[in-house]
Amino acid sequence: MQLKGLLVWKLIVGVVVRAANYDNSSVKTCKPYPFYAPPIEMDLDKVLGVWYEYAIYHPPGVFKNPTNYYDKIATVSGTPDVVAVNWTVALFVQPQGLCSGFFENVVFSSSGQKNSLTYFVAAGAKGPQQVFASEIFIDYTVMEIDHRCLAPNVATGTCDDPIFLINTRVKPPLLTQADIDYIEGTFNRVMAPYCFSMANLTKSTWDLTLPTCNPVEPPHYKELIELTSKILTA
Ligand SMILES: *[C@@H]1O[C@H](CO)[C@@H](O)[C@H](O)[C@H]1NC(C)=O
Ligand SMILES: *[C@@H]1O[C@H](CO)[C@@H](O)[C@H](O)[C@H]1NC(C)=O
Ligand SMILES: *[C@@H]1O[C@H](CO)[C@@H](O)[C@H](O)[C@H]1NC(C)=O
Repeated sequence: MQLKGLLVWKLIVGVVVRAANYDNSSVKTCKPYPFYAPPIEMDLDKVLGVWYEYAIYHPPGVFKNPTNYYDKIATVSGTPDVVAVNWTVALFVQPQGLCSGFFENVVFSSSGQKNSLTYFVAAGAKGPQQVFASEIFIDYTVMEIDHRCLAPNVATGTCDDPIFLINTRVKPPLLTQADIDYIEGTFNRVMAPYCFSMANLTKSTWDLTLPTCNPVEPPHYKELIELTSKILTA
């Protein structure tokens, strides 16, 4: 119980990394991607809800219909404000088509950090593991760009193994060409300093004929969510 309380606290505080200043528009070289995305102002109410995965930089899709649910657990005012979120990624694992998921007890901060304790059930790993995620871009109604750092380099403040995800509010097969142009144009613009573009991403696999996947939560996940709620609302 005490250990879990400490873990939840670590979620809120995140990790202090050196603020690497790679900003230099006159230099044409690629900037390494930071450990956390540069801070943004994120509206903690507007970010909630359902997001459909549109594309991913790596690994490529072994999943079908990946869908993110951001369900609020509790809000805490502070500097910055935070909201604890039950972040579920529901998906079908290929090739068997098993409905499974990722289960993340996460704290979103209004500066864009999304630190979580994650059960990687769909990826065959147990949990929870600490995951460093952050918001690169969000317009709340059409798209968001997420960053997950698999190999944080705490000394340099950079990420040696980043994952980038584009999520959309509309299921990808139902997006209009105008939406797609906006989404892909935004990704290319935002990621240009780091030399990433849509060319580096794999489009997520979607089949609208499949039923909604409601994966079974792993043991202890519910407990962790309840503990987080208790700590934050105490
Ligand atoms: C940015 O580039 C300019 C011109 O090349 C250089 O003088 C300056 O030192 C650079 N700043 C940083 C922080 O690298
Ligand atoms: C991104 O794509 C470009 C163009 O295909 C390629 O040159 C570059 O190496 C890719 N970058 C990464 C990190 O994969
Ligand atoms: C987390 O959210 C999912 C998806 O909305 C929901 O089905 C599940 O019951 C929630 N779990 C907990 C422990 O609140």
